Amino acid sequence: MADLVSHPEEVKVVSRRFGQGAARIERYLELDGYKAVQKALAMKPDEIINEVKASNLRGRGGAGFSAGLKWSFVPKQSPKPKYILCNGDESEPGTCKDRLIFQHDPHSVIEGVMIAALAVQAHTGFIYIRGEYRYLSEIMQKALAEAYARGFLGKNIFGSGYDLDIHWHGGAGAYEVGEESALMESLEGKRGVPRIRPPFPAVIGLWGGPTVINNAETLASVPHVILGGAQWYADLGTPKNGGTRLFCISGSVNKPGVYELPLGYNLKKMIYDVAGGIWQGRKLKGVIPGGSSTPILTADEIDIGMDFDQVGKAGSMLGSGGVVVVDDATCMVKFAQRIIKFYQHESCGWCIPCREGTDWLRKTLTRFHNGGGLRKDIDNIYYLAENMLGRTFCPLGDAAAMPIMAIVKKFRNEFEDHLEGRPCPFGETNRIEELPVFQH
Ligand SMILES: Cc1cc2nc3c(=O)[nH]c(=O)nc-3n(C[C@H](O)[C@H](O)[C@H](O)COP(=O)(O)O)c2cc1C
Ligand code: SF4
Repeated sequence: MADLVSHPEEVKVVSRRFGQGAARIERYLELDGYKAVQKALAMKPDEIINEVKASNLRGRGGAGFSAGLKWSFVPKQSPKPKYILCNGDESEPGTCKDRLIFQHDPHSVIEGVMIAALAVQAHTGFIYIRGEYRYLSEIMQKALAEAYARGFLGKNIFGSGYDLDIHWHGGAGAYEVGEESALMESLEGKRGVPRIRPPFPAVIGLWGGPTVINNAETLASVPHVILGGAQWYADLGTPKNGGTRLFCISGSVNKPGVYELPLGYNLKKMIYDVAGGIWQGRKLKGVIPGGSSTPILTADEIDIGMDFDQVGKAGSMLGSGGVVVVDDATCMVKFAQRIIKFYQHESCGWCIPCREGTDWLRKTLTRFHNGGGLRKDIDNIYYLAENMLGRTFCPLGDAAAMPIMAIVKKFRNEFEDHLEGRPCPFGETNRIEELPVFQH
């Protein structure tokens, strides 16, 4: 399989069926598929929630919140229907893991949604897949049809008396709808802008009903937790960080790809051993540990375990598992400009600090990089970003601000270098032409 990589130190849990034809239900069943949901059907809802809590499974969408704890917030009694919403919007730059799950193991996501539904006693689930993943949506739709044909979904699933429907929904290509409240707006057929929180979706979500929203990888991990047991799963990782993660290693490495490694795996080892070291024998300059919104770590800061707590202690975030490796031939001013260009393009424009802040940052960084910078711009870039932080309606503003602040702080020398009559020390070919992010 051209898109799959492997390494002896991988611990394959979520990826154990990759490359084995498990998108077909017959093969999925041969490989222990739909056994976990049958086990869950024999458990009480609270037992399922407690098992997931004890497994220390934390959300793989970015924030790392305990999945079991989130499920426990759903009220037992609700006058409105409850829902499960699988977030498969996967748009954070550097992140490409849910894609592989949808392609190679779509039934594991369906099974995860089913178990979550049993845990909170919901009878409807949605699997929302980003618009650009049209070919994966076809795979998912086929998998859902197979599950219905076998009586695993619909009325009286597995003859249990429990009714459960799961629907596929496609996005239209906006990063912002990956944010859970904007995701609900989009699914309800409205413009994908966020909602005020609180109330949180677990209490008031889709159409006003309690809604569990989890990332696709989080949900695909759930059947393994139920079958293998909470203790087994928790022991794979580090304290409070159960299990494994699909790390998407990209950028200047010899063997980029998605590797499944235990939480807590050393980042330096991940880059030099697992991903084969730095491309073309260059030197490492920095690493974005969890998708483009997470603050960059310098080459001296990467001797850390990759779990939510250790990366947090190092001043960044584990985020969505997108590890982007940057080598010494990269201009960090241009790198910052490229990051902010994405967030400016994807800002929904709802609130001023994000809409205006990302635009000013993009313009200033472009001018600065192309030789029109002033010394005071360096601090201004930092303060512009800092003033967005915590002052926006949804976390996209923070996602845009944090990487810029970290780059200015840690690579200030490169900004200084751009001022000394040299538009960009990395070469004139690095000049930024203002093209749209995507050309349709
Ligand atoms: C701007 C923005 C984009 C996001 N995009 C995604 C996404 O593509 N996929 C995802 O699972 N979570 C995304 N999230 C996080 C979700 O809001 C939410 O926390 C997550 O789906 C919860 O699932 P988890 O607890 O399993 O991680 C995004 C958040 C923000 C602020
Ligand atoms: S921070 Fe504000 S403008 Fe930016 S995406 Fe969120 S709601 Fe929209």
